[in-house]
Amino acid sequence: MLAMNNLISRTKTKIIGLIALAITICFTAIACGGGSQTQAASGIAPELVVDYIHTVLLADRTAYTKHVVNRLKKLEGKEKADGVVPAEATEGWKQTGGVPLPAQMFRLGSEVALENSDAFTYGLISPWNLNDNQAPRNEFEKKAMAEVVETGEPYKGYQEIAGQTYYSAVYPDKAVAEACVTCHNTHPVHLEKYPDKVFELNEVMGGIVINLPIDKT
Ligand code: HEC
Repeated sequence: MLAMNNLISRTKTKIIGLIALAITICFTAIACGGGSQTQAASGIAPELVVDYIHTVLLADRTAYTKHVVNRLKKLEGKEKADGVVPAEATEGWKQTGGVPLPAQMFRLGSEVALENSDAFTYGLISPWNLNDNQAPRNEFEKKAMAEVVETGEPYKGYQEIAGQTYYSAVYPDKAVAEACVTCHNTHPVHLEKYPDKVFELNEVMGGIVINLPIDKT
């Protein structure tokens, strides 16, 4: 009986010890959590914010190309006959009952984002743009795009547009699939506007631009 009581008492001490440890861990977690909240309130560095946004954008763009477009058309060696769904990703997707091209999907997403938030804007640009609206627009974008094409690395910096300061970044948009290259190289607009430009796999084909308005106050 005594031995039993002893065992219970020792077990209780252990449990209390464990609870104390758990509480300590919880407090530490809350304290640290609070710390990062304060950091968020005082502003996460803009260069980190654009990196986070870019990670999500590129992930969605790549996943759409690989796992949707890829399964509809002959891409990366897979014949249409082996495709999963009888549909095609084409420029005139609305008329043909197909699905949007990766770049169109990207723009559709950016339009929805714009409807829901004014925290930032994003889009695709290229010095070899097929869509007239997707040429580098201003001095910042022209310089950034040229650097990105040359280095293959992102270009970041501040710019001012109509009195508003932005932290902007241009990330390389690379030919990740054979289809990127074949479609652009053979597109009638490309052949007419840039007859000498022949894209190769993994080459920078354009850039993902992210503009983050910065509040000066
Ligand atoms: C089946 C054809 C096709 C495929 C595949 C394709 N594109 Fe495009 N891409 C287009 C067309 C057409 C546009 C212009 C459409 C628009 O945005 O209105 C475009 C737009 C772009 C733009 C914006 C600049 C511009 O040309 O207007 C970039 C950058 C781009 N594509 C890169 C890529 C990359 C990288 C891939 C592969 C992941 C890819 N494209 C796959 C046809 C294609």
